Amino acid sequence: MKSIILKKKEYFLDLAYRYLKWNLKYFFLGRPSPLSCGIYITNKCNFHCDFCTLWRKQTILTLPLEKAKQIVDALNKLGCFYCSITGGEPLLVNYIFDFLKYVKKSKIRYLHMVTNGYALDKERALQLNQIGLDEISISLDGDEEMHDNHRKTKGAYRQAIEAIENIKKFAPNVSIVLNTILFPENLEQVLNVIKIANDFDVYMKVQPLNRHPLFTSVSIENIQTYAPAKQEKSLKKIIDILCRERCIVNSPAFLTNIYNFYFRKDKLLFHNLACLLGYHHIEILENGEIFPCLEGMEWNNGLQFDNNLEEIVASKNYLQLLKKLKNCDSCKKNYYICYYEPRVLFPITNFIRHHNYKCFR
Ligand SMILES: C[S@@+](CC[C@H](N)C(=O)[O-])C[C@H]1O[C@@H](n2cnc3c(N)ncnc32)[C@H](O)[C@@H]1O
Ligand code: SF4
Ligand code: SF4
Repeated sequence: MKSIILKKKEYFLDLAYRYLKWNLKYFFLGRPSPLSCGIYITNKCNFHCDFCTLWRKQTILTLPLEKAKQIVDALNKLGCFYCSITGGEPLLVNYIFDFLKYVKKSKIRYLHMVTNGYALDKERALQLNQIGLDEISISLDGDEEMHDNHRKTKGAYRQAIEAIENIKKFAPNVSIVLNTILFPENLEQVLNVIKIANDFDVYMKVQPLNRHPLFTSVSIENIQTYAPAKQEKSLKKIIDILCRERCIVNSPAFLTNIYNFYFRKDKLLFHNLACLLGYHHIEILENGEIFPCLEGMEWNNGLQFDNNLEEIVASKNYLQLLKKLKNCDSCKKNYYICYYEPRVLFPITNFIRHHNYKCFR
């Protein structure tokens, strides 16, 4: 994962400086400072994917632009380097381009957005290029039939392919990563996406299927988030392929531990280590609530943003919350790329230990 960010050579010195500063602040003062953030800008979506519960929330909300800008100002002051905009579907937000522009004008250097690609036409691709978006993730889970079935939208696959074509053609400065869910009962589908990634010469990352929080009484029990024993061999084979494919940006540590997640929880990376995610990461929901980790707090009871994020992050309450989350073990239930990949890098002692991780040791 780090490899794609490091491709932006112009950010390297700034990133190295902020990373070292973060480590000093953590080791000497025990203080958090979010270097990365995830903003769930809306829960509105044009798809009703069977594996996703975000669109099932009872109230559909979008962060008001002014509030979104205030949050960016605050994150900027805190020294945030990386910002990922997600949702719901961010391209349905009518002010999205103004907002992306605003983030790019701040000192938050690396700007990433995730989309299902349905609304990504030529005009929008041109705008993203002009704004200077660094990276776009376009979700693609398998072949046409499988993707459209899970996404519950006919034409979802074709539109995602068109989105890739539009970005390639009209936004050549934006790195493309295909986000692919690894379905335990249908592992071979990732091979179809690897082929597409190679054909288009774009990157790809995999994320094992997660069980989302239940926001309504609607159950997604039919979604199988564990791997049946008969899949053990196939999983090893697929992980081996993923480790060798050049288009894959997941770290070897993340990939190898997909196996441990399903079959050897006791061997899972960080099994016995305190979780520091909230010391270097922060998440904001469409209702403006702030979370050091959404999953660790079960997507509930975030802190209210009151225009002084610096004070919130420095407060006793926040520090107590972070101390509690050190013992959180929710990552054993869901294996999230957005939590594990940063955990490989923070603090610097983890980076030293894991940056040379070899697949299947
Ligand atoms: C929640 S979506 C929001 C952005 C956009 N709507 C999309 O689908 O790309 C962000 C990413 O999470 C992935 N995702 C959604 N539900 C998931 C689940 N249950 N397990 C793993 N990944 C999931 C999506 O495929 C997408 O790549
Ligand atoms: S497109 Fe994204 S946000 Fe919308 S339902 Fe699917 S995964 Fe969820
Ligand atoms: S263990 Fe996982 S879910 Fe819990 S706080 Fe850490 S990153 Fe979040």
